[in-house]
Amino acid sequence: MFMSNTPVTRALFDDVMVPNYAPAPVIPVRGKGSRIWDQNDKEYIDFAGGIAVTSVGHSHPKLVATLKEQGEKLWHIANVMTNEPALRLAKKLTDATFADKVYLANSGAEANEAAFKLARRYAVDHFGEHKDEIIAFEQGFHGRTLFTVSVGGQAKYSAGFGPALEGITHLPYNDIKTLEAAISSKTCAIVMEPLQGEGGIIDADPAFIKRARELCDEHNALLVLDEVQTGAGRLGTLYAYQQTGIMPDILTTAKGLGNGFPVAAMLTTNKVAKSLAIGTHGSTYGGNPLACSIAEAVIDIVNTPEVLAGVTAKFNRFKAGLEDINARMPFCKEIRGKGLLIGCALSEAYNDRAGEFLKAAQSKGLLVLVAGPNVIRMAPSLLIPDADIDAGLVILEAAVRDITQG
Ligand SMILES: Cc1ncc(COP(=O)(O)O)c(C=O)c1O
Repeated sequence: MFMSNTPVTRALFDDVMVPNYAPAPVIPVRGKGSRIWDQNDKEYIDFAGGIAVTSVGHSHPKLVATLKEQGEKLWHIANVMTNEPALRLAKKLTDATFADKVYLANSGAEANEAAFKLARRYAVDHFGEHKDEIIAFEQGFHGRTLFTVSVGGQAKYSAGFGPALEGITHLPYNDIKTLEAAISSKTCAIVMEPLQGEGGIIDADPAFIKRARELCDEHNALLVLDEVQTGAGRLGTLYAYQQTGIMPDILTTAKGLGNGFPVAAMLTTNKVAKSLAIGTHGSTYGGNPLACSIAEAVIDIVNTPEVLAGVTAKFNRFKAGLEDINARMPFCKEIRGKGLLIGCALSEAYNDRAGEFLKAAQSKGLLVLVAGPNVIRMAPSLLIPDADIDAGLVILEAAVRDITQG
């Protein structure tokens, strides 16, 4: 019989879990800052950040204290009442951004679901039922609900689940001409990531994002920025749009916002928010006091000039280190990204082999990510010490050596 003290093994995953994931052979049991330890006490340097989530590192003392303090006060009451942490979080988010109003959710996909529903509802309220087209982009990723995979630009995530949602057009990212040609009076929103994360660490051209804003204004459409991955300081400003000179109508944020505690938010303006009138949308857990207290503490830590400037300085350190490795053992054709969302696009010789680099690094004690089969992705804590960056790059170099010379 399985007891609480029965050892947990990776084999148990295959016995009891739905097979939609293929987790690594090791099981991490604790973390501190940018380090993680597995069941055998093997140490790993964490350049993965739980897929761009642990923005201030594992077991950050301020977050542990917040979790304990709020945990002893109030976890949940549902949205029949409001609560102090939710209102404090919303106020901090509106003070720091373009937004006047906030909707709180539990995951990136849910924040996007709210954003897409709001964009359509706003169009119905102001212009009529016909205005329902969402323009989105190839390789884009917005989550795994049916609406979000339908807006996402990767067929592999939406295929095989029956009819996808209608009224969604996918265009090439960074291509102003096709966008100009496609947008019309039927378009209710342009949805985009300011830097495509899952799609391969591809930055939006400043001219493209600016033109998207202008076209939205010309056609009474809303600009929805999915900052689930790029937000909460990851690109060196609290939100990526703050580097573009334009403002969205709706912005979604999750991942780094909770440092691993499930929490998300959709931000918007007073005018647009009116369309999510009483009863139009909701969530049982969304805005619960426990999650919001943690997100508030994350914002307090991240949204300082020192931490945000540190993100850019750390990017430069990563880039120099990666270029150095690449000069000795060419393995990538481009080192790209911004802030602490970094991609190494593999050279043709290593086509489709990003997963092998990930596994080689992992076996040597370094956690990295991939973004598709040809890009090694790194998204560490925004507070990662320089010494951990350097130590991780030494391990990455050994992994690169194994693959390129092995
Ligand atoms: C840009 C973007 N949007 C949405 C999501 C979905 O977020 P979640 O997995 O929290 O639902 C992700 C997750 O990777 C993402 O990168």
